[in-house]
Amino acid sequence: MSSQNIYILGIESSCDDTAASVMQNGKILSNVVASQKIHEEFGGVVPELASRAHQQNIVPVVNQAIKKANIAKDQLNAIAFTRGPGLMGSLLVGTSFAKSLAMGLNIPLIDVNHMQAHILAHFIDEEGFNKPPFPFLAMTISGGHTQIVKVSNYFEMEVIGETIDDAVGEAYDKSGKILGLGYPAGPEIDKRAQLGNPKAFKFTKPKVAELNFSFSGLKTAILYFIQKEIKANPNFIEENINDICASIQYTIIGILIDKLKLASKQTGIKHIAIGGGVSANSGIRQALKTGEAKFGWTTYVPKFEFTTDNAAMIAIVGYLKYLENNFSQQNVTASARLKI
Ligand code: KG4
Ligand code: ZN
Repeated sequence: MSSQNIYILGIESSCDDTAASVMQNGKILSNVVASQKIHEEFGGVVPELASRAHQQNIVPVVNQAIKKANIAKDQLNAIAFTRGPGLMGSLLVGTSFAKSLAMGLNIPLIDVNHMQAHILAHFIDEEGFNKPPFPFLAMTISGGHTQIVKVSNYFEMEVIGETIDDAVGEAYDKSGKILGLGYPAGPEIDKRAQLGNPKAFKFTKPKVAELNFSFSGLKTAILYFIQKEIKANPNFIEENINDICASIQYTIIGILIDKLKLASKQTGIKHIAIGGGVSANSGIRQALKTGEAKFGWTTYVPKFEFTTDNAAMIAIVGYLKYLENNFSQQNVTASARLKI
């Protein structure tokens, strides 16, 4: 093994988290995230406010990441940044900043696909966390995305299923809004679900072909159900909140696991990794454990701080691309709809 140290700075600004991380040869030295509280009162991310907050946060966040890593700026070997997908105004802040810094330090610039990064976060060197062997299936579940990806190598990925409307995190957040819970509602629904009866109320699962998902119908079904019950009993939500949350969670996790089972059957792949904010969910973690016993799966759940949006996952992709001399030019542009 070479004794040379490669230091990569990763920058993430695709949605509402401004994040920076310094990595040394695949190991994290620092991982700083500034989350934007401003969106809570609106019940969802407001793009214009997000890009303004990135502008305010990016300099202190990057400085803190470098300081915590205890290195000097001129020790950095490359700057990796999120090129897309994401909100254009948010992406522009990180992209422009990364370009300027790389130019100022005269070091290579590396563009990173945010969805690939959620998957490759599994390759961060972290004690107690195994790296999945190729090929494996990755299910990326967050507030912005729901995908099943066949991963044959670091940069050989194929999306074999994805949502045709809302992302799974949105299904959680929109259900939470109907129930009067705060934003984001995923963690709260998860907490309450563990105290309730998952079979108390039944919501039909959408019928979507093959490995694709749909969650917008579920949100409407929940809305109509709640409106009907409230007519009969104005206190219906308060009196049944845990059972409602458990039933919603049971339905959502059922949808995810049905598709994973089908994907595993179709591809013959039994190594299954998850990523994205919803992989913090207790129901999906439990269901994966069951899958290990029932279907012979080996499952991989990243460390919590690498599941939600973060820059360590951008830095690991930067490191893997650095090893392949896969660099970007200064004229690279942010891309809101970048595909895997
Ligand atoms: O990956 P992430 O931080 O940001 C996006 O890229 O979207 O994911 C945030 C999403 C939100 O929709 C949030 O409600 C959901 O992840 N989430 C959860 C849980 N923790 C976060 N959903 C269900 N159960 C959880 N425990
Ligand atoms: Zn994300």
